[in-house]
Amino acid sequence: VLTPLGSLLDAARERPAAVGAFTVYTLEQAVAVARTAERRDAGVVMLLSDAAFRAPNGDLLAAAVVAIAARSRVPVCVQLDHVSDLERMRRALELGAGALMADGARLPYEENVALVRAAVELARAHDAVVEAELGHITGDEEIAHAVAAGALTDPDQASDFVSRTGASCLAVSIGNVHGRYREPPALDLERLAALRRRVPVALSLHGASGLPDALIDAAIRGGVAKINVNTELREQWFAAVAHHAPAHRDGLRLLALQERIVDSVAARVDSRLAAFERGAAVEPA
Ligand code: 13P
Repeated sequence: VLTPLGSLLDAARERPAAVGAFTVYTLEQAVAVARTAERRDAGVVMLLSDAAFRAPNGDLLAAAVVAIAARSRVPVCVQLDHVSDLERMRRALELGAGALMADGARLPYEENVALVRAAVELARAHDAVVEAELGHITGDEEIAHAVAAGALTDPDQASDFVSRTGASCLAVSIGNVHGRYREPPALDLERLAALRRRVPVALSLHGASGLPDALIDAAIRGGVAKINVNTELREQWFAAVAHHAPAHRDGLRLLALQERIVDSVAARVDSRLAAFERGAAVEPA
């Protein structure tokens, strides 16, 4: 069922655990996320990348993802990720997105505030909410290459930012990157603790691909309530196609191949969701 992001985040913060948010570019990926979430009885977020939404069939992909989310037995929110264009935000909301990630992290501070405020106003008219980013999570959303961490989120500025924008969730930059980690990943957990003390809304951790479970646990215990994964599911999709296509070429058995791809991506979603839940099982340090 389509569910507002707020109720997924509230449930995660209570346990505490993190809601898994997975970027989906294909039907196989979206079905894999929905099936795994149902099997685990877990609410999830399906992320639509802004590049995928901008692509020629972006509207069709959004409509398909919303339909899969709506038919799911578990709560699912569809979110347009990393978007800075208000017109595309409006279109995504009209197509059924329940959340936006308004990304003004590359803008000067006051312009980031203005963008997020405008997004919050737009979203409110559709009963949707906005996630925003402060500091800069480096890396490319669409092309996986190794990157180093960017500007880290300042806790004092974050407190001002959230109160002035009305954002419901803040994406923090604490050493996390999009894509592949150039150095062994490390998270600034003291900064996360300071952010948790200063910021009243849910915190999200982007760039979970390549983060070991121990860091995921630490982030959840530190107050992260939403964790975004993209690169790992793209990796899994490509690996599944390469592995299974040869055996299905004879007879051009496309449907069977699609099922293998779904199973393979689902296995990766499952191991990530297990890690995001495990945060709840670990006693606070
Ligand atoms: P990764 O591609 O590093 O998993 O990051 C995903 C993300 O943060 C999407 O917003």
